[in-house]
Amino acid sequence: MTCPNRLGESSPGFTGTSTLRIFVPTHVLSTPLAAPVSLRFAMKVLVTGGAGFIGSHVVERLLDAGHEVSVVDSLERGSRDNIAGPLERGVRLHETDIRDRSLRALLADERPEVVMHLAAQVDVRVSVADPVLDADINVSGSLNLLEGAREAGTRKVIVTSSGGCIYGEPKPDALPVKETYRGSPESPYGISKRVLHDYLAFYKQAHGMDWTVLALANVFGPRQDPYGEAGVVSIFLGKMFANEEPVIYGDGKQTRDFVYAGDVADAFMRAIKKGSGTVFNIGTGVETTVVELWEGCARAASYTGEMRFAPKRLGELERISLDWSRASKKLGWEPATDLSKGLAETAAWVKSRLGSS
Ligand SMILES: NC(=O)c1ccc[n+]([C@@H]2O[C@H](COP(=O)([O-])OP(=O)(O)OC[C@H]3O[C@@H](n4cnc5c(N)ncnc54)[C@H](O)[C@@H]3O)[C@@H](O)[C@H]2O)c1
Repeated sequence: MTCPNRLGESSPGFTGTSTLRIFVPTHVLSTPLAAPVSLRFAMKVLVTGGAGFIGSHVVERLLDAGHEVSVVDSLERGSRDNIAGPLERGVRLHETDIRDRSLRALLADERPEVVMHLAAQVDVRVSVADPVLDADINVSGSLNLLEGAREAGTRKVIVTSSGGCIYGEPKPDALPVKETYRGSPESPYGISKRVLHDYLAFYKQAHGMDWTVLALANVFGPRQDPYGEAGVVSIFLGKMFANEEPVIYGDGKQTRDFVYAGDVADAFMRAIKKGSGTVFNIGTGVETTVVELWEGCARAASYTGEMRFAPKRLGELERISLDWSRASKKLGWEPATDLSKGLAETAAWVKSRLGSS
């Protein structure tokens, strides 16, 4: 089947939701049929950054829904451990850099109907220190992926953006900030994320490739390593369990919007069929101060130590929270996990990791 695009070319592949394939995972075929097997309408999904923190949650959810999943990850920060279960369930892991030209052939081979793009240089401070590296991965690497997806006839690309960085420091009366807010990103990371929105609009207009952008708040949950954007939860919990004093930079009154990784994975699932050509904030709309976060972590880890403060770090936002009403209306999404429940789940994971290391 071919789908003509706005440039008049024909690309092989998929035509929206009309493409229907039934995929029965091999582990289902090899189990005795004690109960009737329910066949699902499955599709091929390729997840970049799928061995990372958020990506590994997305991969699990895709598998649970019966989809056929492959992962592209350089393992720069992610790990096979993060997707040990999914690998056993048949996920294909391609240890490939998204900047590598071989990615195009890989996509042509995999021919995914949907691509979920989470691979990125994720550290704001690295982007400030080395904006060329940041743009190389987050802009050029992403374009390499979009080109590969276009050539492979991919129907839709779901791209991860940063609600904490693309709006810059919003005016206090604009909080929780809406997708329509026009602020200026204050880091090369925020710029490189935001420029992708424009590229995606181009790909839809010129090539008919659909997209959804999910602009995530500060994500936390199991498998987050203590670096990157919102590593603060795992840093606090890790130190508390080790009976070391975690440091709060500044007076701790700065606010962040903490959203649970499982809820973020749910947004990716909903974006497979909904949210065409739209940017969605994925957050809670709740501002939590760093001091409140420290207290929540201390409760989850039964930590009784003192709060320790250090001078504020340059370039950090004062306040942020995201309005998620658009995601509610158009994706039917909501942040289902409250902070204390999410912290309890994360604390259990951090504790189990410390126990096993
Ligand atoms: N964690 C957050 O709070 C947060 C907030 C907003 C947006 N995001 C975005 O969500 C996505 C996932 O972030 P995360 O927190 O899971 O981080 P992560 O570092 O755990 O995941 C990123 C993954 O991308 C891989 N990767 C990095 N560079 C690569 C490259 N050049 N080629 C192939 N793979 C590469 C890493 O190995 C890693 O597995 C990123 O796009 C990030 O910018 C995260």
